[in-house]
Amino acid sequence: MTTQQKIEELNKIAQEIKSFQGLDIARNATHAVPGEGHPDAQIMFIGEAPGQVEDSTGRPFVGQSGQLMRKTLTETTSIQPEEVFITNIVKFRPPDNRDPNDIEIETCRDWLDRQINVIQPKIICTLGRFSMAKFIPGVTISRVHGQPRFVTFQGNKFIIFPMYHPAAALRGTGTLNEFKQDFNKLKNLLDPASPPKDLQSQPSQPLQASLF
Ligand code: URA
Repeated sequence: MTTQQKIEELNKIAQEIKSFQGLDIARNATHAVPGEGHPDAQIMFIGEAPGQVEDSTGRPFVGQSGQLMRKTLTETTSIQPEEVFITNIVKFRPPDNRDPNDIEIETCRDWLDRQINVIQPKIICTLGRFSMAKFIPGVTISRVHGQPRFVTFQGNKFIIFPMYHPAAALRGTGTLNEFKQDFNKLKNLLDPASPPKDLQSQPSQPLQASLF
């Protein structure tokens, strides 16, 4: 797909999301939040669901936790937020920032899967447990954060890099330090001259769970 075709397809998905009225959270949203970023991004960040500031602006990760995520990304890796693609599992704000429910996740699944398919990032950074569970079910974030692994998804192989949600990092210094350390690991993952040890010795084929 050319970059222009990707832009058109991503716009089409965003329009579908914005006109969708099939969930209470969609009908009650001030703005839907489809996601934003570079159509050829090497890295995709996937969070949980929009919060209040995201709902009022229609942009992902622009509230307090989003600012932490964007700042840590740039300070640690020198990558600008415009160079990555940032989105969420659920595209509309759940009331009072409650967890998204299974129906909401399932209803929004196809849009996210299509966004991934269009962008074809090298690395998918999951922020928090909901997006981690999409690719790596049955694990605990405190055990696997910062550990990249290959996952075949929709017939394509991606590096999944589980990270804490920045809201958790804002709640505690320990988690904040680990969150920042994980961005440092992400930086090393991007450096082709020094791939991290966990990935170095892996065979080129499949892989889920093989990095442990
Ligand atoms: N939290 C998320 O998971 N996503 C956002 O876009 C904002 C806060």
